[in-house]
Amino acid sequence: MIKIKVCAGSHCVLKGSVDMLEYLQNDDYLTDKISIEDTVCIHHHCEEDNSPIMEIDEVILRKATLEKVYQIIQEKLNDE
Ligand code: FES
Repeated sequence: MIKIKVCAGSHCVLKGSVDMLEYLQNDDYLTDKISIEDTVCIHHHCEEDNSPIMEIDEVILRKATLEKVYQIIQEKLNDE
């Protein structure tokens, strides 16, 4: 199970983090492949220029996009 945390802090929400969280939660393809939750601001990396920020299996993803997230998920699934 791939663990994803999505920042729900203000910078990241403004850049669509919660929309991406909801999109990923509602993708049936991912249901048994990821666990996903929102989290408080990932302070150490928190800068508007870096947002939205996610953590995927404890690796920080800055300027996250759905395209990047799906790419990382697919790479991880291919490695299993
Ligand atoms: S607002 Fe997302 S890391 Fe701070």
